[in-house]
Amino acid sequence: MHGKVAIITGSSRGIGQAIALELAAKGASIVLNGRNTQRLAETEALIRQYHDRVISVCCDVSMKEGGKELIDRALEQFQKIDILINNVGVSMRGTVAEVNPDVFKTVFESNVLGTINPTIPALPYLRETKGSVVFISSLAGIRGLPLLSAYGASKMALRGIAESIRIEEAKHGIHVGLIYVAMTEIAHNKEAIGADGAMVVLETRKNRKVQSTEFVARAVAKNIRQRKFITTLSGLGKLNSFLQSRFPSLVERIILMNMKKFEEGSK
Ligand SMILES: NC(=O)c1ccc[n+]([C@@H]2O[C@H](COP(=O)([O-])OP(=O)(O)OC[C@H]3O[C@@H](n4cnc5c(N)ncnc54)[C@H](OP(=O)(O)O)[C@@H]3O)[C@@H](O)[C@H]2O)c1
Repeated sequence: MHGKVAIITGSSRGIGQAIALELAAKGASIVLNGRNTQRLAETEALIRQYHDRVISVCCDVSMKEGGKELIDRALEQFQKIDILINNVGVSMRGTVAEVNPDVFKTVFESNVLGTINPTIPALPYLRETKGSVVFISSLAGIRGLPLLSAYGASKMALRGIAESIRIEEAKHGIHVGLIYVAMTEIAHNKEAIGADGAMVVLETRKNRKVQSTEFVARAVAKNIRQRKFITTLSGLGKLNSFLQSRFPSLVERIILMNMKKFEEGSK
């Protein structure tokens, strides 16, 4: 990572922050992003424990202008881009029958446009460095799960985008990574979008089997180092992926038998 410049969207807390710290510890210059200046300043201070090659770009990547501003500011400061990690994402809760259609709009603006808005202006610069563009997906992006329809659909869209870029940019040597993240510890007061469109605070996951944000960050760094396409996290994720590709109706039956767990897990 020494000499590399990495942009991580949504890196003022949670998984994005852990990825920024992991890459900084390995020597990369870091471009942080988020919409809250205080959280960004706190994260910037953590990065400075490793080195001073860090800037924060406070902008909303779900807007076209935000995506461009992020890339422009990174280039202005560091003159090149080696790694773009599209981490911004918001989840939702509710069955399709009860969900307000606007929830789909908000989730897709964040998770799909929030990914494509920085990626498009970054691609010409990633060609110059034969760099990496990484998409942070979820196990909900492997198959549709109850109560997570809009979220899962948005994460599945990332696979389509990632596959297209892999083929389109093969001649330019850009590495594309897609990380299927399993349930991970969450920041205090993390919110998801409720069925009516209002934000709901999620319960802490202290007593649940979850991965640490540091574990996810190390897996992302490994994906970049090995220039792998797909990284699926957790044994359950790998099993889900295998069974879904060969025995999808079995996976459906297992989910139906465990509906209670899904309802509990979505809190
Ligand atoms: N946590 C899990 O269990 C889990 C599991 C699978 C996949 N994932 C995926 O991992 C990624 C990160 O999840 P997380 O749990 O770490 O989320 P999080 O704690 O909610 O953090 C999201 C980060 O993105 C920023 N952000 C949100 N919307 C933004 C926007 N439009 N423009 C710029 N910054 C924005 C937030 O800061 P501000 O609010 O200050 O802008 C924050 O820094 C997401 O893509 C999520 O879908 C998470």
